[in-house]
Amino acid sequence: MDWESIDTYAKKWVKEAGQMIRASFDKTLNIQTKSDPNDLVTNIDQEIEQFFISKIREIFPNHRILGEEGFGDELTSSKGIVWLIDPIDGTMNFIHQQRNFAISLGIYEGGVGKIGLVYDVVHDELYHAISGKGAYMNDKQLLPLKEVGVKESIIALNATWVLENERIDHQLLIPLVKEARGTRSYGSAALEIIFVATGRVDAYISLRLSPWDFAAGAVILEELGGIVTNLRGEKLDYLSKDSLLVAKPGLHEIILKEYLKEGKW
Ligand code: IPD
Ligand code: CA
Ligand code: CA
Repeated sequence: MDWESIDTYAKKWVKEAGQMIRASFDKTLNIQTKSDPNDLVTNIDQEIEQFFISKIREIFPNHRILGEEGFGDELTSSKGIVWLIDPIDGTMNFIHQQRNFAISLGIYEGGVGKIGLVYDVVHDELYHAISGKGAYMNDKQLLPLKEVGVKESIIALNATWVLENERIDHQLLIPLVKEARGTRSYGSAALEIIFVATGRVDAYISLRLSPWDFAAGAVILEELGGIVTNLRGEKLDYLSKDSLLVAKPGLHEIILKEYLKEGKW
């Protein structure tokens, strides 16, 4: 498979989509809700997903597509080449802040990550990796991640998970929050994984994400020696919703063994 050539197309389309998103800043958005009042979608999320799908179908008609907004294929297996698309990850930020969101595009073969692209549109920063060929921010190569302990680490997680919630006993994560140097929450899973990849934070935890949220970031992070699993320490299957623990090497093991062992994730 000519991954370099697929990567070249993907990068070109991501940049074009970024330009479309920037152009939308001056226009009125059509905002709707999905599963709950805080689960938002705009006409731009939908247009960008459709843009990618029309390009992929034209050049790679045999590839399959899993897109958040539902314009792709219904996938029941990870066979062949699959594009996992989140046209805007961080839609709430896109609507409220016009920043802190990204386009996330992962390309997998047989469930194995081959290409990851996360485009921070507002900063014009394209994070990208082809598996085995290093990870980059624009043309700058990113450095392998170094080990770090909990006391020196910044953990990205949403405050929801340390408040009473439906998914977990909220007490479980409190010791980790207390021991870490600090916590952050940015509202875009794809960017938060990239922040681990670039060392801006040391770990990111979420209780429920979809494959299009983490597929691209995972390829980039693993290329740098970062570890990507669910909160039980298992590999993700890239077709199902799951919890997520991404962290620098060493820290991942400590969080899993010392802080998450009691949980039913
Ligand atoms: C959301 C963001 C958010 C995460 C949510 C995701 P969306 O994606 O990544 O940070 O906490 O679980 O659904 O809906 O903005 O693409
Ligand atoms: Ca998302
Ligand atoms: Ca989205």
